[in-house]
Amino acid sequence: MNILILGAGGREHTIAWKLSQSPKLTQLFVAPGNAGTSEIAKNIPIGVTDFNEIKEAVLSNKIDMVIVGPEDPLVNGVHDYFLNDDKLKHVPVIGPQKAAAELEGSKEFAKEFMMRHQIPTAAYQSFTSDNLKEGFEFLENLNAPYVLKADGLAAGKGVVILDDLEKAKEELRSMLVDKKFGSASTTVVIEEFLAGIELSVFVLTDGNGYKVLPTAKDYKRIGEGDVGLNTGGMGAISPVPFADQKFMDKIHERIVVPTVEGLKKDHLPYKGFIFIGLIKVGDDPFVIEYNVRLGDPETEVVVPRIKNDLVEVFQAVASEQLNQLDLQLDDRTATTVMLVSGGYPEAYEKGKEISGYDQIEDSLVFHAGTTLNKGRVVTNGGRVMAITSFGDDFKQALKKSYQNIEKISFDRMNYRSDIGFDL
Ligand code: AMP
Ligand code: GLY
Repeated sequence: MNILILGAGGREHTIAWKLSQSPKLTQLFVAPGNAGTSEIAKNIPIGVTDFNEIKEAVLSNKIDMVIVGPEDPLVNGVHDYFLNDDKLKHVPVIGPQKAAAELEGSKEFAKEFMMRHQIPTAAYQSFTSDNLKEGFEFLENLNAPYVLKADGLAAGKGVVILDDLEKAKEELRSMLVDKKFGSASTTVVIEEFLAGIELSVFVLTDGNGYKVLPTAKDYKRIGEGDVGLNTGGMGAISPVPFADQKFMDKIHERIVVPTVEGLKKDHLPYKGFIFIGLIKVGDDPFVIEYNVRLGDPETEVVVPRIKNDLVEVFQAVASEQLNQLDLQLDDRTATTVMLVSGGYPEAYEKGKEISGYDQIEDSLVFHAGTTLNKGRVVTNGGRVMAITSFGDDFKQALKKSYQNIEKISFDRMNYRSDIGFDL
């Protein structure tokens, strides 16, 4: 069959790499893709939210299935667009419909969902500019640190955590009144701060059955020791060593089952990945956020651990047969280290030639922000490449990634050499 992946990052290159191993695949397309995906698929230069152009591409290339990488097309209703079009409705889309994608598209919606289904999460209240005063009072009655979240999508920047009450009030005003995050901060969720260690669990559902995929932990800050600005993710490890069976049982019983059941009860159509961001407080899991897709760079460690044919897995989702699938996972640990452009996550330059990535042994190279310029692979984004390795434990796996990174270079290349430091 012919498959189209929407997206351009390390996540999409990893999915493409895995799908391309399937004997069931005829031709693979990625829109818009990167230099890495161009080696194993045909890149189509269109944007992930250009639905009319996506339709053209699907029809002219006889695409049989679409896999959606990032959240934007899902929150904008790409799945619904397919279902509402006579020529497209037979093409399965892996990713939830718009109503369900609100779990990521609106923090308030996600909070209300968790409350309705008794899913453990931080206590909260939401505010608009009409009740700014109540927002200030709510902050006064909380203990520091104060967690403020823009309700809508804000490119990963919408969560602000502050220690000082006056600064928190100022931030609330700036979000609600000055529209700091545009329409994304028309509503702001203020919540109780939870202290603990974070991890993520990924679930794949066909709307009825589900499979729990491996856990992963990512490292979001730019600086070693988890300091500095937030990034999309500087590295990841799977499985998470502290997520033992007892803790996983709690996650399953208190969070995964009520989430999948909650989607059904609320009639939220969901065929795709659920990314559950968790925090372990004492011995108990709490939900920090839902995302309606796989994570990046979490995909670079989660997908390589899936032993099944990924085309078959997606076919099982499309035909609602996921419960019949025997999911096989690699017991080894996978780690990934992200190579980024100097300056990222602030301003950085593009177009730097990358060398040595073809000399890698015993690691996988997943391209993120790369493109081809006159046949050469050059940087084209903040996050450039993820180097994934396997090992019996995360230290062994990381050692391979770091040894291989020695061989790769581009002008002002940067990476964190302390992935897993807190484990
Ligand atoms: P989010 O965009 O919802 O993932 O939030 C970004 C980051 O803010 C999370 O990864 C956490 O590190 C932190 N965070 C969000 N909510 C809370 C909370 N209630 N307590 C503590 N940290 C939080
Ligand atoms: N690595 C975090 C994310 O994909 O949202």
